[in-house]
Amino acid sequence: MQIVVKDVNYVYSAHTPFERHALKGVNLTINEGDFLGIIGHTGSGKSTFIMHLNGLFKLQSGEIDVFDIKLVPDKKNKSDLRRLRGTVGMVFQYPEYQLFEDTVEKDVAFGPKNMGLDDEEVKKRVKRAIGLVGLDYDDVKDRAPFELSGGQKRRVAIAGIIAMQPKVLILDEPTAGLDPYGKEQILSLITRLKQECSPTVIVISHDVDEITRFANRIVVFNDGKVMFDLPMNELFRHADELHAVGLEVPKAVRIAQKLRERGIELGDVVSLNDLLHAIVTAYNKKHMDEPVKTDVSFSAFDFDADGGHVCTQSGEDKR
Ligand SMILES: Nc1ncnc2c1ncn2[C@@H]1O[C@H](COP(=O)(O)OP(=O)(O)OP(=O)(O)O)[C@@H](O)[C@H]1O
Ligand SMILES: [Mg+2]
Repeated sequence: MQIVVKDVNYVYSAHTPFERHALKGVNLTINEGDFLGIIGHTGSGKSTFIMHLNGLFKLQSGEIDVFDIKLVPDKKNKSDLRRLRGTVGMVFQYPEYQLFEDTVEKDVAFGPKNMGLDDEEVKKRVKRAIGLVGLDYDDVKDRAPFELSGGQKRRVAIAGIIAMQPKVLILDEPTAGLDPYGKEQILSLITRLKQECSPTVIVISHDVDEITRFANRIVVFNDGKVMFDLPMNELFRHADELHAVGLEVPKAVRIAQKLRERGIELGDVVSLNDLLHAIVTAYNKKHMDEPVKTDVSFSAFDFDADGGHVCTQSGEDKR
């Protein structure tokens, strides 16, 4: 199964003084199981692009095929659109602004109810989704969303999407506006959702260091076009071109480059964890008589939302 995007263009406010050509012939294939990162300068077309993938924006030209649901311009097919919304779950930037029901349970239930599922199934999904995002169902179900902290609200909003059990989960700037602790919670949650809920995940982020934490492939948007579509370890070899469009390479890549200039070759390094492993391996090679432990990683990578609440398919705590 694939998402295939062919020659998609999109113009805002066409034939007005505010006309803006936001997508210019975008071609992209996303495979089932991809953990795709999308980066790009502000205004490069990232959000406009992803809004096409669940039919929020009507196609103006080109073709999109999402797991065999075909979208073409001027096609009005409500059942396709409904299927598409059930297939692709979209978490917008600041999704907590869209919470509107008077209890957490009702808010999370909104999507699955709209899918026409029976009450029992809706309840099961709501319970599981709330557990998956690291919240205690009994503790939060009757609370008003506005009573919760910023990070908790965001997790409730994400629960509302995953309760629809989408095959593809798209998150637009999921950590925007959160403090470092809140960011860690959301990043570890995204990795968990990929494993336990939606096998294909697409994340838009401004932060390349964040993207290196999970993506296996990165697409770079620039001026409404796909500038790069590469595996992560290959992308950051293009540091100068990325810099020219206002993008930085990750910290670990920069540190490895500085070490390389000083004669210390560490191989392919993208994330901080890669860097840590490469340094330990290089050290052990040099000090064979006294090697240090190789199974090291930054604690942030082992981070668990709410101090280790990992849920099973049924929503029960594993620990
Ligand atoms: N509703 C709109 N009306 C007119 N132009 C718009 C509208 N929304 C976006 N644009 C323009 O389309 C272009 C692409 O916008 P888009 O929001 O897709 O970029 P982005 O890459 O998501 O940016 P950011 O990183 O800031 O979120 C920008 O030039 C933007 O100004
Ligand atoms: Mg955007």
